[in-house]
Amino acid sequence: MLSVSNVTMRYGSKVLFEDVSVSFVPGRRYGLTGPNGSGKTTFMKILTGELDAQKGSVVRPRKFGVLRQDQFAFDAYRVIDTVIMGNRGLWAALEERNRIYDKSDLSDADGMRLGELEGTIGDEDGYTAESDAAVLLDGLDIPEEFHERKMGEMQGGQKVRVLLAQALFGKPEALLLDEPTNYLDLESIHWLQDFLHGYDGTLIAISHDRHFLNSVTTHTADIDYETIIVYTGGYDDMVMAKTQIRSTLESQNAQREKKIAQLNDFIARFAAGTRSTQVTSRRKEVERLQTNDLARSNIARPYIRFDQTRPAASTSSSSSTSPSSMATTRFSTASPPTSSAAKESASWAATAQAKPPCSRASWPTIPASPTKTLPSTPARSSGATKPRSATSLRTSAQPSSLA
Ligand SMILES: Nc1ncnc2c1ncn2[C@@H]1O[C@H](COP(=O)(O)OP(=O)(O)OP(=O)(O)O)[C@@H](O)[C@H]1O
Ligand SMILES: [Mg+2]
Repeated sequence: MLSVSNVTMRYGSKVLFEDVSVSFVPGRRYGLTGPNGSGKTTFMKILTGELDAQKGSVVRPRKFGVLRQDQFAFDAYRVIDTVIMGNRGLWAALEERNRIYDKSDLSDADGMRLGELEGTIGDEDGYTAESDAAVLLDGLDIPEEFHERKMGEMQGGQKVRVLLAQALFGKPEALLLDEPTNYLDLESIHWLQDFLHGYDGTLIAISHDRHFLNSVTTHTADIDYETIIVYTGGYDDMVMAKTQIRSTLESQNAQREKKIAQLNDFIARFAAGTRSTQVTSRRKEVERLQTNDLARSNIARPYIRFDQTRPAASTSSSSSTSPSSMATTRFSTASPPTSSAAKESASWAATAQAKPPCSRASWPTIPASPTKTLPSTPARSSGATKPRSATSLRTSAQPSSLA
């Protein structure tokens, strides 16, 4: 299980996350979304432990793979070793074993330690590590002649693929990938999509490639003004759900304001008259109906438009008609909600509206339990193995964040 509890993160006066709690369930593949600068990379660094949040705690699985953004960190290492380093425990055992073997004299303690290390290496599939790493590299189109070369000799796109192989190496229980498709050609993207469809751990992927997210993810953890809300489905499902919920809340607010205006009109006309009982009851009704400003949301800008030009595929692929084969990717907002979905989300929104207001400017948070289910949206996109029979909205973020 990978989860964060009550995490707060600020840079100076800029609040990125306030009291955020989210659990990422094994077997689900999450897209981590949000506008540029909303804190996606920062959140991923908190998940991996590279950054400490000011407040809160993180629970991580023993083995997790990370796609590192620093392309130069492994320049001094062989490509094949860089991949094996993805299994930190195995790599440490291999290095220590080599150091002991390099000694001219081995003590009894060294012998004992070697025995332990061989045990660790065996447990971690160390004896097939090179061939396992080679399979991953071949899948990512890094042929054998490159495996012995130093990372410093590799081109940018090749480095990213090696680093991806590193993240995938050693059967990690969770995979954390920040922009994995950057610099990948189409063939490698398709290989990665296939790999991730078969991956049974927890995946969290940040990507500006909406087609990639729609194809690969089963859930979307969306960063929206200091909080994170988890939706079922890919990127498009998330945008649709947000749009539905937002428009429902806005229309409910508009109806309430109209009703308040009518009541105030009555109060103004009869306040000084004999109908004091009715005026008093209408005053109470006005207090009860008083609208709250809707929380800020990035729904108006779910993503800043981002053009991503991919390098051409090395060979033309049979899947060239799939959405992911587009050389240029553009984000846009989703189409309007369907009426049946809007009805469902309206009833959810009514529940959410009934909650006490919260001063925190954030999006309405969906209660962790019980899960509210929206009607299913049609499955689409190639190779989607997602459970789309029900698009339930669920989050473990704090309740009552409706402002
Ligand atoms: N070390 C730092 N010191 C101060 N501010 C930082 C630091 N790192 C990130 N920030 C700020 O925190 C915010 C979130 O940054 P982050 O890189 O996590 O966003 P992001 O969602 O990954 O953006 P993008 O979509 O551009 O990759 C940004 O406003 C950024 O300028
Ligand atoms: Mg980022």
